[in-house]
Amino acid sequence: MTKSPLQKRYGIRTPQSLKSPTSTTQEQSYGVKVENDVVVIPFQSKQGQTAFAPQWNYFIAELMMPDIDINSLKDFLLSKEDEVKSIKGLPVNDCGTGLGDDSTTARFLYYNVFDWDHPEIDKLKTGVKEFHRMYYTNILSTDSVPTIRARCWMNIMRKGDRVTKHLHGYEESAYLSGHFTVASNNTKTIYLNPYEHATEREILLRVSNGEPPSNGNLYGAENVPGKLTIFPNYVPHMTTEHEFDEPRITLAFELTPFEDLAGRYKDGKSIKMEGETDLPVL
Ligand SMILES: [Fe+2]
Repeated sequence: MTKSPLQKRYGIRTPQSLKSPTSTTQEQSYGVKVENDVVVIPFQSKQGQTAFAPQWNYFIAELMMPDIDINSLKDFLLSKEDEVKSIKGLPVNDCGTGLGDDSTTARFLYYNVFDWDHPEIDKLKTGVKEFHRMYYTNILSTDSVPTIRARCWMNIMRKGDRVTKHLHGYEESAYLSGHFTVASNNTKTIYLNPYEHATEREILLRVSNGEPPSNGNLYGAENVPGKLTIFPNYVPHMTTEHEFDEPRITLAFELTPFEDLAGRYKDGKSIKMEGETDLPVL
């Protein structure tokens, strides 16, 4: 693939189409529809009034995927829960989500949902690939899209569980993360600006007390079954508490533009740790 100059490829600019936020659907009323029902939520600081005021500028994108049979997918994922949790003897890490060592989340290195054979997962993989293309081309104003590898794992939460504040990476290799909501009843994922260090209790209070859901400081997104979301790895996020008996299920994923990361790939394949699964190309 012929690479564009770094400035062209990675210099985030605001595309013309994102300059006039408009309402879309009731669930997605804070962003701008850019292409095929993809909604981009600009997440930007106000213009700094001093030389040292912090600035941030990034984009969260959402897409509803009504073609995925979420009930079929939910049943399949629940049928895999015991199998995943039976993975023992390898280091586990819930990556700051607070879901604990016994969770399917903490075993994310040792299975990959995108390797599982199920028609709804096939649809999701196709959707993630296309969604990534739309995110990349609209935000960077380019037609040149890197090939990606992906790791996908499931978060299965029970009544009283909550995902604590975490992020997926801030290293020089950081790229994009996302998730697909399979089952959720009245929970939000709260995305924060990278300079926010209020306690989670305070953030939850602010959200429950009516802080605007999308104000450039935070974005409180409703977790609607069938919604696919992509955001940069370094964006901190957390959820509200799951308060119902039915499990809350999301599929989380990280995308890797492996051609850009020569040190972590050899002959197009990832250099793996013991037990780690390979990453399918999307
Ligand atoms: Fe996450």
